[in-house]
Amino acid sequence: MPTEKKQKDISLKNNKILRVAVIGCGSRGTRYARLASNLPEQYALVAAADPVSERVEQIRALSSDSGFKGYPDAAALLEDRPSADVVMVCTQDDDHFEHAMGAMEAGYDLLLEKPVSNSMEEVVAIEQKAVELRRRVVVCHVLRYSAFYLKVKQLIDDGVLGDLVSVHAAEGVGAWHFSHSFVRGHWAVMEETSPMILAKCCHDMDLLHWLIGRECRSVSSVGALNHFKADHAPAGAPERCHQGCPVADDCMYNAKHYLEESGKGWLAMVYDRARTASDGEILQWLETSPWGRCAYRCNNTAVDHQVLAMGFDGGISCSFTMTAFDTGRGIEIYGTKGRLKGGEFVHRSGGVDIIVENHQGETLEKIDFEDHGGHLGGDEGLVDSLYARMVCWSVDDVLAEFRQVVHGHRMAFAAEEARQTGTVVFS
Ligand SMILES: NC(=O)c1ccc[n+]([C@@H]2O[C@H](COP(=O)([O-])OP(=O)(O)OC[C@H]3O[C@@H](n4cnc5c(N)ncnc54)[C@H](O)[C@@H]3O)[C@@H](O)[C@H]2O)c1
Repeated sequence: MPTEKKQKDISLKNNKILRVAVIGCGSRGTRYARLASNLPEQYALVAAADPVSERVEQIRALSSDSGFKGYPDAAALLEDRPSADVVMVCTQDDDHFEHAMGAMEAGYDLLLEKPVSNSMEEVVAIEQKAVELRRRVVVCHVLRYSAFYLKVKQLIDDGVLGDLVSVHAAEGVGAWHFSHSFVRGHWAVMEETSPMILAKCCHDMDLLHWLIGRECRSVSSVGALNHFKADHAPAGAPERCHQGCPVADDCMYNAKHYLEESGKGWLAMVYDRARTASDGEILQWLETSPWGRCAYRCNNTAVDHQVLAMGFDGGISCSFTMTAFDTGRGIEIYGTKGRLKGGEFVHRSGGVDIIVENHQGETLEKIDFEDHGGHLGGDEGLVDSLYARMVCWSVDDVLAEFRQVVHGHRMAFAAEEARQTGTVVFS
């Protein structure tokens, strides 16, 4: 049995190019399409669908396929069935079920954005359909493909830490990121989209399950929305930042920050003309868009902090904290031979990404990664690895990985149920 690398080399040598269609050409769809277009020996972009025609045209511009086909929506693409091997489903959370099921039924394998769906029943139905039709489904849990988490996984699997006993992980969403996505943005109202622990932290649930290598059996959780609500609004703050807010100059959530270079990066995810519009046009757009609202006067319900306690098979305990009020992820792993600490805080304070010590206090490893890229390099890693999963892996191996992803989603749904009911949820 040739190794994955050898199989990939053989496929590349035989000019096996994966033909890719994109459904949903927003921020994520365009990102993956751009990364795929940088790997022409692996991928050809052959079709794209989005109701916003400019977004389809952006993907067309990335494609070197003269027969590239654009469609006004997923239904039109799936009805026409362009000749493609893989469909990238990059629509919003709510649409994943319909588009993933439709694409599998039309004969395509999938790169599917997370969350798989915002209902556990639909997640299970998608898994069942993939098994029934023997479709390959790869979920965009990009962090699994980052150099950082691949190294952590390797250190665990090589036994450097001994037997795992306990893990703590944290995700600091970042106050501005939180306000952009979970107060003003797409995932602000949990009842209309996904609960926070699924929308943002299904990545973390997946990572914990993957790193620990065991199934999670029990979850308890507390969390709430403390800060981004009307009773914290500065005195006299109006509904929208441009309406003469008395604290406009001092407020870090002032929508005017979208005019700054760093703000434009965020704006570009929700406003196609972020990079070309004048400041005046952007300000005018903000006057009516959700992103121009006072961050204390939105209809948001997403929790701004949540803590989980989880029990895994083998008696391994795990805690996880999501907070709006820190930036970046971190992980601490305690094993019988050693302990590992890594992530954003370790990097900022210790100058390296990962430190491993034994219990005599000796440093076993200090690892630093020079280039972090999008999602710690995970976006690039995912798109590169997709090829092997579609061309070299067996369908059964891809489905086994998808089963792990489904378990990570189950953990997230269990955590939300535990938070809402104040009970321990067993799975
Ligand atoms: N993997 C990650 O790290 C990561 C990061 C951010 C977002 N996401 C997920 O990616 C998905 C997309 O997020 P985004 O930020 O790119 O959203 P987005 O709103 O920028 O893009 C969604 C696109 O789908 C299009 N669309 C809507 N209905 C359609 C239809 N019927 N047919 C075809 N296209 C249609 C919209 O016009 C839009 O362009 C979400 O599920 C989100 O949760 C994943």
